[in-house]
Amino acid sequence: MTASAHDPAPKTSNITVRRGDPLVVMENVQKHYGDFQALTDIDLTVNRGEVVVVIGPSGSGKSTLCRTINRLETITSGSISIDGVEIPAEGKALAALRADVGMVFQAFNLFSHLTILENVTLGPLKVKKMRKADAEAEAKVLLDRVGVGHQAAKLPAQLSGGQQQRVAIARALAMKPKVMLFDEPTSALDPEMINEVLDVMVSLAQDGMTMIVVTHEMGFARKAADRVVFMADGQIVEEATPDEFFTNPKSDRAKDFLSKLITH
Ligand SMILES: Nc1ncnc2c1ncn2[C@@H]1O[C@H](COP(=O)(O)OP(=O)(O)OP(=O)(O)O)[C@@H](O)[C@H]1O
Ligand SMILES: [Mg+2]
Repeated sequence: MTASAHDPAPKTSNITVRRGDPLVVMENVQKHYGDFQALTDIDLTVNRGEVVVVIGPSGSGKSTLCRTINRLETITSGSISIDGVEIPAEGKALAALRADVGMVFQAFNLFSHLTILENVTLGPLKVKKMRKADAEAEAKVLLDRVGVGHQAAKLPAQLSGGQQQRVAIARALAMKPKVMLFDEPTSALDPEMINEVLDVMVSLAQDGMTMIVVTHEMGFARKAADRVVFMADGQIVEEATPDEFFTNPKSDRAKDFLSKLITH
């Protein structure tokens, strides 16, 4: 199945905004939790350098989709490949894949007993076996980039939520991932901190990072997304450029979802 990662005609070829070659390829993915089917017939190709925003009602399978891409959840059937390699089941190959896929969650998940710098260098030291001086030098560059370089010696609890989430982004970037997954990275933040995190994400997108972003921040989608994927009931119902999607949603589910967003 992995040969299809190089298929020159991805199934979503009706979408005109396209960047590099296929990087994340999900084909006919099904995911069950017991009897419950959380993902149905998911076909999704994300090209290198592309920014895909995933939206949809609560329970539609957005988090499940993200979690299958770095194998935090196994799939029932179908295939997922990253850069032409089917996601390995276990062992060293799985660890290598996880390094290729950076993930930022709603909760910041920093290690509370480690400093900011130690949080960011942990993966490069333990997984990539980098030299400490090199890992620290790279971590400092990343922390500066997300605007918290001067906080490197502090513990996570000494930082604001927005700062912690930016550290979480730096920590994921420290592994030099091929793709970054964001699952509602701003929904646990106080309103005044949302933009500082979104600004970092917009700049990452502008730098060409491949990103899959689950978010309710439609401003971010309009500004940074190449494509919006709308999910409902575990299926991809519609995908379009942000402009097309927000001005002319095709499906009743998407119309309904958007009308509710606008009214509250
Ligand atoms: N570990 C699990 N065991 C059983 N069912 C689960 C599990 N995780 C998720 N589900 C179910 O799968 C469906 C999809 O859940 P998921 O968390 O992917 O939705 P979501 O789109 O991310 O929702 P939200 O917007 O609320 O975060 C839901 O019906 C949920 O109850
Ligand atoms: Mg979710």
